[in-house]
Amino acid sequence: MKVILVAVSSVNGKLTKGNETNIYTWASKEDSEIYFSLIEKHNLIVMGSKTYEAARKIIKLKADKLRIVLTRNPEKFKDDIVKGMLEFSSESPRELINRLGKQGYTKMLLVGGVEINTIFLKNSLVDELQLTIEPLIFGQGKNLVSDEELDLSLELINIKKLNKKGTIHLIYKVNK
Ligand SMILES: NC(=O)c1ccc[n+]([C@@H]2O[C@H](COP(=O)([O-])OP(=O)(O)OC[C@H]3O[C@@H](n4cnc5c(N)ncnc54)[C@H](OP(=O)(O)O)[C@@H]3O)[C@@H](O)[C@H]2O)c1
Repeated sequence: MKVILVAVSSVNGKLTKGNETNIYTWASKEDSEIYFSLIEKHNLIVMGSKTYEAARKIIKLKADKLRIVLTRNPEKFKDDIVKGMLEFSSESPRELINRLGKQGYTKMLLVGGVEINTIFLKNSLVDELQLTIEPLIFGQGKNLVSDEELDLSLELINIKKLNKKGTIHLIYKVNK
């Protein structure tokens, strides 16, 4: 299973601005275009329950796209389940990857947030990082990864300036 982590951050690595849960108040339209084209291209999307709660209003379920929300309490979301399109799981990332791999999935788009990104990175389960950096600095907010012991090396595969103000899109391979 190839796991692709996708995120947008400020120059100082913040994935959220202060207490604001909606990233579209500051992420550029060019980043949104990249993000939604990645969503379009992938049939397996994984996120943490807090990201789901922040994004649930704009999530458009599709028959050929499975979204899995990681939560320690799947029961809490039982009314939201749409079999094959929106499911909730308390499996570990490795268990999830193994199960979905056996079901024939070959690529997973990991869309955050910080807690879930950190667990996948810590377990060396991420193969590619697609990171957009907006020309912004936020004093407060959540970092790309939480304060854990992590020591990963990456290799830059592609870099693209997305607009005049200097939003940058980076694609990294994670060395394993
Ligand atoms: N800038 C970006 O690219 C970007 C991307 C995504 C999200 N975000 C933002 O990031 C924020 C959310 O990030 P976050 O770090 O607070 O939360 P998160 O990673 O989205 O979700 C955390 C939740 O995941 C579940 N979880 C954690 N460890 C688990 C495990 N081992 N097994 C199963 N479930 C587990 C828990 O859910 P339960 O509490 O239900 O048990 C936990 O509360 C939102 O504001 C969102 O808008 C930004």
